[in-house]
Amino acid sequence: MSHSTVEIKKIQHSFKKPDQQDLLVIDGVSLNLQEGEIVALLGQSGSGKSTLLRIIAGLIRPTQGEVLYQGEIVRGPASGIAMVFQSFALMPWLTVLENVELGLEAQRIPAKIRRERALKAIDKIGMDGFEGAYPKELSGGMRQRVGFARALVTEPQLLLMDEPFSALDVLTAESLRNDLMELWQSADNKMKSILFVTHNIEEAVLMADRIIVFGSNPGSIKGELVVNLAHPRNGQDPAVLHLIDEVYTVMTSTRLESLRMKATPHVMEKIGLNHRLPDVGVAELIGLLEAVDELQQKGPIDLPHLANHVRLNIDDLFPVLDALTLLQLAKVSEGDITMTRKAKELLDADITDKKILFARLLLESIPLAKHIDDVLKGVPNHKASEAHFVQDLEEYFTKEEAERILETLIDWARYAEIFAYDYDSGLLHLEDVR
Ligand SMILES: Nc1ncnc2c1ncn2[C@@H]1O[C@H](COP(=O)(O)OP(=O)(O)OP(=O)(O)O)[C@@H](O)[C@H]1O
Ligand SMILES: [Mg+2]
Repeated sequence: MSHSTVEIKKIQHSFKKPDQQDLLVIDGVSLNLQEGEIVALLGQSGSGKSTLLRIIAGLIRPTQGEVLYQGEIVRGPASGIAMVFQSFALMPWLTVLENVELGLEAQRIPAKIRRERALKAIDKIGMDGFEGAYPKELSGGMRQRVGFARALVTEPQLLLMDEPFSALDVLTAESLRNDLMELWQSADNKMKSILFVTHNIEEAVLMADRIIVFGSNPGSIKGELVVNLAHPRNGQDPAVLHLIDEVYTVMTSTRLESLRMKATPHVMEKIGLNHRLPDVGVAELIGLLEAVDELQQKGPIDLPHLANHVRLNIDDLFPVLDALTLLQLAKVSEGDITMTRKAKELLDADITDKKILFARLLLESIPLAKHIDDVLKGVPNHKASEAHFVQDLEEYFTKEEAERILETLIDWARYAEIFAYDYDSGLLHLEDVR
């Protein structure tokens, strides 16, 4: 029977917002990390992944629920849990060795033993010979290795890593990743579990035994995939490629749902104002459609293939896919994208017709566009202040979010020449009254 290193039970977390409703960031997250497993956490930006890691590390207390480590509730930083961040604040006036020793500062350990352990950790992570170097003499990859050493020197049972390789170039990331995996599989590995956050699907598939897909608003577990492949794994292995595809499927199929705010029934919800709009410009939308068109063999296009082709990481790609789906320009399913007939028409149209077609799509498929259009049609001069619409959206969203959503819509609608917007007065008005 396998044992859990850590048990995460029904975690809920809200941040207090001055003069506003609390921001619910994580809701109902339960997860057990088993001994001997590496778990990857994937999910949209802002879905609460870092917050969850900080809760597990005992750096913040969850609003509800609990984290059990060695059967005890985590109430503060636990000595067997260490964390690696995207980048480390190394002390510039301390050597590598002294920086690593800092990892042990909280524990009362005699200086001699502290030094021995720091030297060992430095050696393990491939920094042997750099003990006396200062951070400014090191490359970004080497600095990150110091960060790893600082975490490993505490001999943690649970290693938490928040996007540990994402600040590094591809090759540096790969070599550090390989070294960590080697360490994990070595005979003297004391770590029992690793939980890491990444935005890189391939990285998740190459490292993890289990992949958790996080959805946002609020952050919760949307899907889970088991990776049953031996190490070392090869990015070109068909089994790896197949799993990458599956992760795309899970991630894309759960996204649109999180664009919709769940709220108590309200008149605004009936007209669909509880929809978030992805923060994407028209040029990006059409650009991606053109790329899809370019690749369009007969059938659907594989998303990993498309991502490679346009050189976009998933954080930039997925919002565009969301927008295309909302506008009925593309269908995304099973990790594939297919352009709709409407999209084909849009691409083939000249610039004037493009605007007309886009206007039609906006009014048909984006309730907020229809709402603004209706309101403007019904008022004298066909003018209304943006503040009015922000207020409507604030029924569901924070003020910042409401403003961002409206800004995106205004951007789309200006392209479509539905309404114009005057920056100075903040007034929206109909371009021409149809
Ligand atoms: N200390 C804080 N006070 C208030 N809000 C916060 C705080 N920390 C995070 N948030 C909010 O909580 C939400 C989740 O943030 P978090 O950093 O956990 O997301 P994430 O999934 O790690 O995102 P990313 O992928 O961009 O790193 C965001 O909306 C963020 O603005
Ligand atoms: Mg984060």
